[in-house]
Amino acid sequence: MRHITLGKTNLYVPTIAIGCMHLDGVSRSQVETFVQTALDEGANFFDHADVYAAGKCEEIFADVIGMNSSVREKVFLQSKVGIKPGVSFDFSKKYILEATDAVLKRLKTDYLDTLLLHRPDALFEPEEVAEAFDILSESGKVRNFGVSNQDPNMIQLLQKYVKQPIAVNQLQLSITNATMITQTLNMNMSDDLAIDKDNGILNFCRLNDITIQAWSPLQYGFFAGTFLGNDKFPELNAKLQELADKYNTGLGAIAFAWILRHPAKIQPVTGTVNPEHLKDILKAADIELTREEWYAIYLAAGHRLP
Ligand SMILES: NC(=O)c1ccc[n+]([C@@H]2O[C@H](COP(=O)([O-])OP(=O)(O)OC[C@H]3O[C@@H](n4cnc5c(N)ncnc54)[C@H](OP(=O)(O)O)[C@@H]3O)[C@@H](O)[C@H]2O)c1
Repeated sequence: MRHITLGKTNLYVPTIAIGCMHLDGVSRSQVETFVQTALDEGANFFDHADVYAAGKCEEIFADVIGMNSSVREKVFLQSKVGIKPGVSFDFSKKYILEATDAVLKRLKTDYLDTLLLHRPDALFEPEEVAEAFDILSESGKVRNFGVSNQDPNMIQLLQKYVKQPIAVNQLQLSITNATMITQTLNMNMSDDLAIDKDNGILNFCRLNDITIQAWSPLQYGFFAGTFLGNDKFPELNAKLQELADKYNTGLGAIAFAWILRHPAKIQPVTGTVNPEHLKDILKAADIELTREEWYAIYLAAGHRLP
């Protein structure tokens, strides 16, 4: 497993993170095999959120892995707070602190390696977030901080008050859902691809040493389904198959290799709970697509170049 340094932290983590959002959707024995497969392959960075199945995914994970202090040392744990069921979003100091304590309890641990603010809260006050982060940092409950789905301005506003560096921004990114890439390539053109939906987030993160984590790396919309083997994307699947044959992998590995090939050192987050799919996807860490292959995949997905 290849590793990267996460943002401005001293964490040296696997280049592919294991998303735990769907752990509640399969049998306990499948989760056991799934988690063991990840660990056997050296993929020991696990991504959670308090809202995944209303906390059940965190509980299932802690139970299956048999969380205790020696297990804890062998894994990286990340979770997210800030989405409040019945309200929408809440970045208040009180809610961040309470929600983080609840995460720690469910994961049966004393600390998180990274805590992310899940989705922007329009009513947030950065001074309050700063107070919450200080308390979490000084108590040792959270070692590093990040955000998810945030644009450059919001990160800058947060960073004006928060003294801990924002190490991570988790963003939706896949071959078919790549506005942060397609826009930069089509900048200044007259068609819609030139519209900047992400406020230059890709290069902002690179300039500020913020690791982008790609969520839904195999989906073509907002939980619309995967593009792998999907009739809606014949050209893309043909290209992925051609490269899968070349590199002796499945399609999932090539789709992840496309994200990993970007020099921003993006850390994709898997969504599969199928151990065989996971094994294939993790092969991506050993593949370096050529420049020609990267652009051929981009074009096969239907994106244009000037
Ligand atoms: N920050 C945020 O706002 C946010 C939002 C959403 C998700 N996330 C995080 O990102 C993670 C990944 O997101 P996602 O769940 O949308 O992941 P994804 O990896 O894009 O999609 C997962 C889907 O692809 C399927 N799949 C995987 N390999 C396949 C293959 N070889 N052939 C056919 N289908 C395949 C999976 O089915 P199988 O299980 O059958 O393989 C699953 O249904 C989540 O677990 C969560 O940790 C974060």
